[in-house]
Amino acid sequence: MISFAPDSGVYLLATPNSSYALRVDESGTPRHLAWGPRLTLEEAAALVGPEVPMASSFEGVSPLGEELPVDGGARYGPPSLQVRFADGSRAFEWQPTGQHVTDDKLELGFRDRNYPLDVTLHYRVHADSDVIERWTVVRNAGDEPVTLLRTDSAAWALPPLRHYRLSHVTGQWCAESQLRREELSYGETVLTSRRGVTSHHANPWVMLDAGEATEEHGRVWSATLAWSGSWRITAQRTPDGRAGFTGGIGHDGTNVPLAPGEELTTPPFAAVCTDGGFGAASRAWHAYTIAHVVPHPEELAPVLYNSWEATGFDVDEVSQKALAERAAELGVELYVVDDGWFGARRSDHAGLGDWTPTPERFPNGLTPLVDTVHGLGMKFGLWVEPEMVNPDSDLYREHPDWVLHFTDRPRTELRNQLVLNFARRDVADWAYGWLTRLVGDHGIDFLKWDMNRAFSEAGWPGQPDGSDRLGPQYVRNLYGVIDRLRADHPALRIEACSGGGGRVDLGILSRTDQAWASDNTDAADRMGIQHGYGQVYPARTMGAWVTDVPNQLTDRTVPLRFRFHVAMAGALGIGGDLTHWSEDELREAAALVAEYKQVRHLVQHGRLDRLSPPGQDTVSGVQYTATDGSETLLLAYRRVGRSGAQHLPVRLRGLTPGARYRDACTGVVHHATVLAEYGLQIDLPSGDWSSTALHLVREPEA
Ligand code: DGJ
Repeated sequence: MISFAPDSGVYLLATPNSSYALRVDESGTPRHLAWGPRLTLEEAAALVGPEVPMASSFEGVSPLGEELPVDGGARYGPPSLQVRFADGSRAFEWQPTGQHVTDDKLELGFRDRNYPLDVTLHYRVHADSDVIERWTVVRNAGDEPVTLLRTDSAAWALPPLRHYRLSHVTGQWCAESQLRREELSYGETVLTSRRGVTSHHANPWVMLDAGEATEEHGRVWSATLAWSGSWRITAQRTPDGRAGFTGGIGHDGTNVPLAPGEELTTPPFAAVCTDGGFGAASRAWHAYTIAHVVPHPEELAPVLYNSWEATGFDVDEVSQKALAERAAELGVELYVVDDGWFGARRSDHAGLGDWTPTPERFPNGLTPLVDTVHGLGMKFGLWVEPEMVNPDSDLYREHPDWVLHFTDRPRTELRNQLVLNFARRDVADWAYGWLTRLVGDHGIDFLKWDMNRAFSEAGWPGQPDGSDRLGPQYVRNLYGVIDRLRADHPALRIEACSGGGGRVDLGILSRTDQAWASDNTDAADRMGIQHGYGQVYPARTMGAWVTDVPNQLTDRTVPLRFRFHVAMAGALGIGGDLTHWSEDELREAAALVAEYKQVRHLVQHGRLDRLSPPGQDTVSGVQYTATDGSETLLLAYRRVGRSGAQHLPVRLRGLTPGARYRDACTGVVHHATVLAEYGLQIDLPSGDWSSTALHLVREPEA
């Protein structure tokens, strides 16, 4: 997959449908050559041209021609690598030190011409994916400290195009993943989180296209940073019509100190070039995430129940057992007790940090409830928020110095809580200690790992360079605690949560099994959130619950069936107060859970086709199809009916041409060619909030 031509100096990374080419030039600088359709080494070498002379003394080196644009020399673009040495000197001058080429990995080593600073560019490809992973390792080989003012994982350059369009998501709490698609501005566009966590407000991925791509057609270049702390991606469009982007850890103004002998390995900033529109780009990310990121790719997410919207902080053994019994009757496979089971936790004002079951609520600890849940044939899950503390807690009274803070500055409380400094070894060890005991002592199968506020006053008094080291070290220690926990308890599964979808990224997904996409469980709002979530992240990872109406957040009432059909587009869960559901509702819910179990392998492991985006008065639909075309599921929705609204047939995707498909419910047989080329007239019940699920199974060949 990776080859090198010594005569031209070209390295070629060949994925199944794309190529990436680069070269170290005569000055020793790694230069970008190509990223797009397949090329041979010889063809890639033809792209090596003479250095384009600068048009004037004001232009400088093109910032988009280098593999990792550094600060230094006549470069004026956003640097991917910006260094300050102990003597105050800046800049990095590339001097090659070696290469290591294998079939799937490429490492290019460099050292600064004058200073003992090593930089290694890493590339990795997979035989089954067009995604190319890149990251950078910087090592201080000297005996004086170095400051890294910026250390991006990678910079990606696009070919020259007449137009560039940027797709990304923005959002806020309860409104994550709102898809934006806009012309890329000339100059620099910065997408970032300064919150210490991935954030609800932006997500570390970008897609660029020539402004012509549709859901099904067109070339798209996209990239995703695997990091769960603050981050920054800068997309650039230059006046001469070029574009690219650079991305990595930390926001503006954060530095990473590098002591003598110390090394920094950045997280991967992976990217893929796809043909076939935004749908194909999303599918490339889904397949890659399932095959190479999530820890248990072969598994199906269980149908879970979560107590949060039913009981809030009012959690006790008796009421949880009652809910668990109802959940089991519905076919739930995993019962999760949310916030409120520990310490003095009666509201969000107290108790965080004191991780022992509240005696008045659980007189004999958690074991009786765990046993009941297991006895009902379900796995047992528990909510935790290990990175946080309420000032009103025994933990804070004992360790007020454990939180992020600056001496002589206030400690800003958000949701009445402070952030524990996970960058500290003792704090991370404390968290690991109680978590591993909690899981081991109670036979806990699943943790919902929450994180309910952004960083503020992110200082670490007493630690030299504390506030600079804090950001990356916090995330590494967080990953380390989760990794240790998983190693201790291989059967443990984890849900990533940060007040809903505030920490969804490929870094956290590489060590958790699913993510809670949003605290907004209103089915109508959720459709937009799920549409944005699924641009990059697969449905397998997208927790989606059916909750009560009127919805707690929006006051909206939509039918149970519609709520189920929306949640069935992800990893289905239920979060309503089942003790108040009528017999009819419970019966309908049990049938829908059973239906989901019949098709979840398609949702969680199939290919996604977005047939039409969620719209106000149009029918929208998502289709999940087995990768061998043997079965497909269509989920279709109409939010609000309108007299005179168009009812166009929907053309299905991913079917085996010429085959016939039987409707698993009605037995009606359809021709794939008709479904794909002429479309299916979806038979939606009349009225608002109308939805359907259609499961088609390929007939054996006659
Ligand atoms: C925020 C989460 O997103 C909710 O689902 C719930 O777990 C609350 N935290 C509990 O405090």
